[in-house]
Formats: sequence, C-alpha cells, structure tokens
Amino acid sequence: MDQYSDETRLLWNRVADDWDRQVGDDGDSNRILNSDPVLWQFVGDVAGITILDAGCGTGYLSRKLHDRGAHVLGIDFSEEMIRIARSKAAHIDFRIDSISELHTVTDGSIDIVISNYVLMDTPDLTETVQAFFRVLKPGGYGVVVFSHPCFPQEYATGTDSDVAVTYQWNFPYFQQQKCVGPPWGHFTSEFIWFHRPLSDYWKAFRKSGFEVVDFEEPRLSEERYHLAKNERQLNNGKNRPYSVAFKLKKREQ
Ligand SMILES: C[S@@+](CC[C@H](N)C(=O)[O-])C[C@H]1O[C@@H](n2cnc3c(N)ncnc32)[C@H](O)[C@@H]1O
Repeated sequence: MDQYSDETRLLWNRVADDWDRQVGDDGDSNRILNSDPVLWQFVGDVAGITILDAGCGTGYLSRKLHDRGAHVLGIDFSEEMIRIARSKAAHIDFRIDSISELHTVTDGSIDIVISNYVLMDTPDLTETVQAFFRVLKPGGYGVVVFSHPCFPQEYATGTDSDVAVTYQWNFPYFQQQKCVGPPWGHFTSEFIWFHRPLSDYWKAFRKSGFEVVDFEEPRLSEERYHLAKNERQLNNGKNRPYSVAFKLKKREQ
C-alpha cells in the first residue's frame, strides 16, 4: 500500500496543528486513561537508554521519555509534525524520515522502539516492522500500541451513558483496505488509515524475526476510575477496546 505514502504524509502535514491540540503535553484522554499506563508498563525503566519514538507526531511522548532520563530520537515523515515537536523541545533529536525506511538510523543502535498509534496509519506495515527490527540492538524491544483493528471507533455507535456499542462494518474484516474516516476530536478534516486484520500484525512481527513477549487490550483499570472526567469517559474506558499493545523482542544472536 506504499502508493499511499505521499497522500498520508500530506494529510498529517495538514492536521499537525489540530493534532497538537488533540494530544497537548500529556496525550488525549484515551492515552491518559487507557493506553499510556500499559505502554509505560511494557517500556519499564528508560533512564540512560536509547529510545526511538517512531511516528512521534508533535512529540508529547518523546518529551516524557526524555524527562524520565532516556536518550530520545523522535522520527516522523511529516515536516509539520517535526516542526512543532522541535519548537517544543529543541534539546530532543527530532528527524524527518519514514519509519518504513529509517534511513537516518544506524543498524543495531536502539534499545527500545516505541510506536504509539502509528502502525494503523502507515501504509507499509511489513517494511516498517522490518525497519524497527533492523535498528534495534540484539536483546532490544519494540513496544507498539495501535488502534484496535477489530473495533474501529469510526464504526461504533452507542450512547454516552450506555455500555452497549454497535460496530457497523461496510467491508470484509479480512480484507486489507485504505479507509477514510470522518473528522473527530479537534479535527475538521477526514482521516486516512489502513485496516488490516489483527492476525496480519502478528504475522508481520513474527516474519521480521520478533518474538511476541506480551500483549494487552488497554482499558481503564479500577484504580484510575477517578481520572475519568465524565460518565462517557468512564464507560468508554471500562467497556470499549480502543487499542492493542504488543511488546516485541529482538532475540540476542
Ligand atoms: C496518530 S499520529 C500519532 C503521533 C504520536 N505517536 C502520538 O501518539 O501523539 C500518527 C503519526 O504517524 C506518522 N506517520 C505515519 N506513517 C508514517 C511513516 N511511514 N513514517 C513516519 N511517520 C509516519 C504521522 O505523520 C503522524 O504524526
């Protein structure tokens, strides 16, 4: 699907300011309530290690990783995303590059590759996962969080107070497909994303040489219920599977 690369990059250039408003300095509510706790659990202690934030966007996670003591390299192919990321943290090494190529990153130089809500947005999954594998040191980890392909929010309908959700598909689940989603959150323009069945991700990880060492479907856990700002956030966090999180390992030789 790499014929969509330029179209996708231009889309992210157009919505970079909107994205900055969406995630701010701490991530949006889904990240704060549901997926970031799992991401930090999978990543562990980052002090002193080298981390690639692949598809860093405006860099909220890169900044948090830096604050926790990591040497951070943030990469995105959107020039506008990188411009905003640099304006907020000139001390972090942000680079314009495609994560399916990672031309600017040396083989075997990274301890952990993190890719936070990017894989469903990148047209070339296989090449991207191979590039992650190449730049990792032996024994290094990949931590990837992406929108749950079985339960796309674009296809969900439900009421704010009800736990019942209906997902309405208009194409076969097993078909790989470019999708165009409606505006949401702070966005006034449509979104491009790429549907693949969950098993395609698993196969891409294994084919590249990764061992899958952990998997989670992030949700709002009881000790964080109080962080929900309203009933909708509480119900959604408790009941809706927004994302999946994988922890991958590049084995020692
Ligand atoms: C949903 S945003 C997530 C941004 C950031 N990780 C976050 O959580 O705020 C997806 C990002 O992936 C980037 N992206 C998508 N495909 C890419 C590719 N092939 N190479 C580099 N960046 C890519 C987009 O430009 C965009 O910034």
